[in-house]
Amino acid sequence: MTKLQNHILVLFASLTFVIIGCAQQQDNEKDNKNWVLGPFKKVDRVNPILKPDSSSTFEDPISHKIVHWEAKDVFNPAAVVRHDTLFLLYRAEDYVGKFNGTSRIGLAWSTDGLHFNRNPEPVIYPGNDSMKPYEWEGGIEDPRIVEAPDGMYYMTYTTYDGEVARLAVASSPDLRHWIKHGLAFEDAYDGRFKDTWSKSGAIVTKQKGQQLIAAKIDNKYWMYWGDTNIYAATSTNLKDWKPVLNDDGKLEIVIEPRKGNFDSQLVESGPPAMITKEGILLIYNSKNSADEGDPDLPNGTYAAGQVMLDANNPAEVLHRSDSYFIHPEKSYEITGQVNNVCFLEGLAPYKNSWFLYYGTADSRIAVAKSLE
Ligand SMILES: *[C@@H]1O[C@H](CO)[C@@H](O)[C@H](O)[C@H]1NC(C)=O
Ligand SMILES: *[C@@H]1O[C@H](CO)[C@@H](O)[C@H](O)[C@H]1NC(C)=O
Ligand SMILES: *[C@@H]1O[C@H](CO)[C@@H](O)[C@H](O)[C@H]1NC(C)=O
Repeated sequence: MTKLQNHILVLFASLTFVIIGCAQQQDNEKDNKNWVLGPFKKVDRVNPILKPDSSSTFEDPISHKIVHWEAKDVFNPAAVVRHDTLFLLYRAEDYVGKFNGTSRIGLAWSTDGLHFNRNPEPVIYPGNDSMKPYEWEGGIEDPRIVEAPDGMYYMTYTTYDGEVARLAVASSPDLRHWIKHGLAFEDAYDGRFKDTWSKSGAIVTKQKGQQLIAAKIDNKYWMYWGDTNIYAATSTNLKDWKPVLNDDGKLEIVIEPRKGNFDSQLVESGPPAMITKEGILLIYNSKNSADEGDPDLPNGTYAAGQVMLDANNPAEVLHRSDSYFIHPEKSYEITGQVNNVCFLEGLAPYKNSWFLYYGTADSRIAVAKSLE
C-alpha cells in the first residue's frame, strides 16, 4: 500500500466511525423524544410563584393558639385542574414547636397556571383526631393528588410524628373539605408495614383532557412510593394499599439509585404517574451524593429524572433518562431551608401545556411549563 492509499484508508475509517457515531447519537435522541415528557422551561418571569406569608393566621386545633401557619416555608405542591381552574395543594410550615415548624397543607388557585390566589387557612392539618399520634407535631407533608373515576380527589401525604414518616391517604369531593382515611399500609399483611418509613405516593393515572384520572391495571390501582429506592403498591379502593413484595417477601425494588449519576444517593417518586402510549411515565426526584455521584452537582442536590415502566408489568422499567431534566440553578433553588433542591410533585395538563410545579430549597414554589 502506498502512503497515499494508507491515508485514504485512515480517512475512510474515521469517516465511517463519525457516521456511525452520529447515527447512534441520533438514535438516543430519538429514543428520548419518543417517551420523555417535555421539554420543560422554568417560567422565570413569575418564579417563585408562591412564597411564605406571615400575615395568614389560623387557630391550631391542638394547641388552640393562633399560628402563622405559612410564615416559614411553602413548598412541595400537588396540582390538579377542576372546572378549568388549576389548584395547588402545598406544604406550609410555621415557626412553632419542638421542630421549629409544623407542616400543614394550604390551597391556592389560578386561571393561568402562573398567578395564584390562596386560601387564608390550611385545608388539611393535624387535629385532635385519630391521626394525631402520627401527625403531631411534625405535621402533614408532601401531598400528591389524583382524581378517581367517580370524581372524588385522593391525596397521598406524609404524616410525621418527629421520628417516622408514614404515608397516609385523604379524600375530598371539592379540594377544600378533606376526610382522613388513615395510614396507606395500615392493614396490609396484618400491619407489617404500618410503622415502616414511607413517603411519596405517586398513583398511576391516565390523562383525560385536563384531568389525570386514577387508572386500574388488571383491576388494581398502582402507586409508586418511597424515598430511598422506589417501590410499588396496589389497591382496589385508592385508600388501602398493599406494598408489592418479591419472592423473598421483601419490598420489591422498582427503581434504585445509580452510582456515578445525579440519582446516586436516593430516588423518590414525583408527581402522579401516567399511562402513555409507550408505558407508564414516572417523573422522579433524586439526591446526589458527592462521594459517588455526579461530580458536577453539589453534594445533596435534588434533581429530577424520568422513567418509563411497562404498563403490563408496572414494576418493570423499560427506559430511564441518562440525566436530569430539572436541577437547582436559580438563587431560590440553591438557598433555603434545605439548599440545592428542586422537588417535583405537581403535574397538570392545562390550557394545552404541561405545567410542572416544584418546591425550591424547601422554601418556595416554582413552575416549569412544556414548550407549546
Ligand atoms: C381532644 O379530644 C378529646 C375527646 O375526643 C377531649 O377530651 C380533649 O379535651 C381534646 N383536646 C383538645 C386539646 O381539644
Ligand atoms: C427556626 O428556623 C428559622 C429559619 O429556618 C431560623 O432562622 C431560626 O433560628 C430557627 N429557630 C430555632 C429556635 O431553631
Ligand atoms: C455530603 O453530605 C452528606 C450529608 O448529607 C455528608 O455525610 C457527606 O460527608 C458529604 N460529603 C461531602 C464530600 O461533602
